Amino acid sequence: MRRICRVFGNPIAQSKSPLIHSLFAKQFDLDLGYDKCADGITDIENAFTDFFKNEAAVGANITLPFKQRAFDFADTLSSHALRSGAVNTLFKKDGQLFGDNTDGRGLVWDFKRNGVTLKGAKVLLVGAGGAAKGCIPALFDAGISLLHISNRTTAKAKVIVDQLAANSDWNLSLFKDTETYDVIINATSLSLHGQIPSISTDILSAANVCYDMVYLDEPTAFLQHARKVGITTTIDGIGMLVGQAAESFKLWFDLSPDLTSVINTIKS
Ligand code: ATR
Repeated sequence: MRRICRVFGNPIAQSKSPLIHSLFAKQFDLDLGYDKCADGITDIENAFTDFFKNEAAVGANITLPFKQRAFDFADTLSSHALRSGAVNTLFKKDGQLFGDNTDGRGLVWDFKRNGVTLKGAKVLLVGAGGAAKGCIPALFDAGISLLHISNRTTAKAKVIVDQLAANSDWNLSLFKDTETYDVIINATSLSLHGQIPSISTDILSAANVCYDMVYLDEPTAFLQHARKVGITTTIDGIGMLVGQAAESFKLWFDLSPDLTSVINTIKS
């Protein structure tokens, strides 16, 4: 039987999820129709209801700006979703709609793929949107020693710190200009506009690794800037994108696809 999945977001035209999932499905001869929601969608709750009414509907991915609303919509939540307050994957399970967040697992997988040790690392997370928040539990699960958040709107970073630190023993706080960081992660949308977040050169050049959650055909402005100040390990978000998709695919079909070939196909 043909199964169907869909990605929901707005804007959605740029999404690579249909391509990634069709490449996964091909590896297993799985008859999968994976499409995008309509462009410009706003009534996401009705769109979810309509989609999951279809018997062939297995699961959905949720991207900006609907991760919070997907969190509210799900009947049951995984610990990753609960701890991050955002959902990027929905699927039917035991007659209920289950919500998980696979972004952080995708990110951690990509650090490993790139030979970056997270255990004990001091991390600066730049940005306080859904992408930033969603990855925090997985980074602590991977053994980082501290995570500080910096954001243009400090109040938003403070909300995350207050929410997540209250229910954990994580060493999580706002950015401190007296600290140095091993790993700096850009979780803002600035790279989509060719811009870089404001981080002092002292802080940036003291890091070992710079990661940008955005993936473009060219190195992002942030990674180019990091290279200029001497950072040798700069990583873009393609691995995270494919990694989080693979985690969703596993949840839906209990199949583990090969990721490297998919990353290479997308890059080519
Ligand atoms: P996502 O869910 O993908 O994280 P988002 O919720 O829109 O998307 O968050 C985008 C992030 O990029 C936020 O941290 C945002 O900062 P604010 O919280 O201050 O809005 C950051 N961002 C976007 N445009 C920016 C800009 N021009 N300068 C600095 N930060 C910016």
